[in-house]
Amino acid sequence: MLGSGFIGRFYADSIQGLRSKDKIVMIYSRRDEQAKKFAEDYTCDHFTTDLEAAIAHPDVDMVCIALPNNLHEEAVMLCCKHKKAVMTTKPLGRNASEAKRMLDAVEQAGIFNGYLEDLVYTPKFIKALDSVKKGALGKILWAKSREAHPGPHSEWFWDLEIAGGGCMLDLGCHCVEITRSYIGKDIKPVEVMCWADTQVKPIPAEDHAIALVKYENGAIGQFEVSWTFRGGLDLRDEVMGSEGTIWVNSFLRTGFDMFTTGKGADYVAEKAETNTGWLFPVGDELNELGYNHMFTDMFNAFENGTQPREVFYDGYIVNAVLDAAYKSNKTKKWEPVDLEVWRGLEGVTKDSVYVDFDADHYLVKEEITHYGAKKLILKEKVSGKIVERIC
Ligand SMILES: NC(=O)c1ccc[n+]([C@@H]2O[C@H](COP(=O)([O-])OP(=O)(O)OC[C@H]3O[C@@H](n4cnc5c(N)ncnc54)[C@H](O)[C@@H]3O)[C@@H](O)[C@H]2O)c1
Repeated sequence: MLGSGFIGRFYADSIQGLRSKDKIVMIYSRRDEQAKKFAEDYTCDHFTTDLEAAIAHPDVDMVCIALPNNLHEEAVMLCCKHKKAVMTTKPLGRNASEAKRMLDAVEQAGIFNGYLEDLVYTPKFIKALDSVKKGALGKILWAKSREAHPGPHSEWFWDLEIAGGGCMLDLGCHCVEITRSYIGKDIKPVEVMCWADTQVKPIPAEDHAIALVKYENGAIGQFEVSWTFRGGLDLRDEVMGSEGTIWVNSFLRTGFDMFTTGKGADYVAEKAETNTGWLFPVGDELNELGYNHMFTDMFNAFENGTQPREVFYDGYIVNAVLDAAYKSNKTKKWEPVDLEVWRGLEGVTKDSVYVDFDADHYLVKEEITHYGAKKLILKEKVSGKIVERIC
């Protein structure tokens, strides 16, 4: 494990939880005392403040990168040098160029690579995606993902050079991969329109952003992200298809509400702003945030010599979409997604979802009214005229 901070510990809790056979044998951290503490907490055999020594250690089969964004590339390159399987937290890079260099390097080195996008492994997401894949929503037309909270927990996130962006890179990377998965990972994201601004925090990066991502098949992805939202961690998805709708609330108001005056109050849930009054605890954060299913997929794939669901290529696509969003926010125009590597479908056209009523008409709408009449709105195929029939 590289990094003993916030996500390193969430990952460790997940990897070693529930009688797991997986074991963190080595922890790298910047400071000796942090490395030692983590090694004690998770009974790791080794700890070090030497990044390369951690990666090269013969006991290490797979490296998990849980470091600030500016250090992902250096760590990935060392994994390539020592031919170690690697998993990297999100975002893969600070931009698509960085992500592309990492993608090229792992593929040239021929090493296992996993992209740790936990939010496409949450139990709710897995179930929702399964329904989408079985056609329960018909053709996916619009997929929205929202992640908003009051801002990150460590100083480096707020430094534009180290982090590479503000809330759009930090949280938008989750949303892009969620919406892309619903629309279809083989469908090309083509253009992005974005609004972003720094509304509250004294930082050069954006603390609030909204963007639309157009896909080649006519579907639209949308993300809303914020580091200025008050009230906890707001994680929600909405998917609309020609045959149905899914709404997912992953963190707040999930059916677990608690009131306390504050007596015995402690940690409630990630980014909760208060531990008194009405609260929204989360039953099992490791599971609800997808970490357990994510590592199960990663380790199964590693052992079986297959690919996990999320690989560096996915991280690269996400970075490319976000680069276009940053550009659009500057130019105020739709900006193309510049994809040097694309492995999905090419030239997909917008399918017709028109429903035939009979040989001469399309069905526009069918409704039973409050006064008992069944109304049919039809379109004549030849003339294009809209007509109404009351049955
Ligand atoms: N849900 C998620 O997937 C999720 C959530 C939070 C963070 N992250 C990602 O995890 C990564 C780490 O974030 P975090 O929240 O754990 O941050 P953190 O600040 O809590 O921990 C970062 C770790 O890196 C070490 N570190 C910091 N600066 C360093 C430096 N200059 N040299 C060497 N080590 C350094 C710290 O000592 C610490 O061990 C980031 O890429 C972040 O985007 C992912």
